[in-house]
Amino acid sequence: MAERGQLITILQKIQSKEGYLPAAKLDRVSTDTGVPLSEIYSVATFYSQFRLKPAGRHQVMVCNGTACHVKGGNELLKKLKQELGIEPGETTPDRLFTLDTVACLGSCFLAPVMTIDGEYYGKLTADKAVKVLDKYKNNE
Ligand code: FES
Repeated sequence: MAERGQLITILQKIQSKEGYLPAAKLDRVSTDTGVPLSEIYSVATFYSQFRLKPAGRHQVMVCNGTACHVKGGNELLKKLKQELGIEPGETTPDRLFTLDTVACLGSCFLAPVMTIDGEYYGKLTADKAVKVLDKYKNNE
């Protein structure tokens, strides 16, 4: 039976190839390694790096670290959730955006901050953040 560390490595490889962890692949891992499927799912859901559903074309990361929180990060997240109609960890039905939160994006001086596909947007208000989203929508 595979060790937890080995299992994580296997799951990382699948995710890097597929972009997420398809159920059929996890079944196969269980068969090949002898690790019960329930344990594989327990690992896959414990670590936030793993995704059980396909990600959207654009990855929106909203910082919920202290500096961003103090400068209105919560309002920002609330507006983005409302605008996209999803919760953190979810993807819009059109698969355009995946929303996630992160503990700190390392640019606290720009608080509140979000990134889209790794590009930084700082000193945001809820309205500015919606305009940024619109830019991505309009480029599709
Ligand atoms: S707390 Fe948000 S970038 Fe550091």
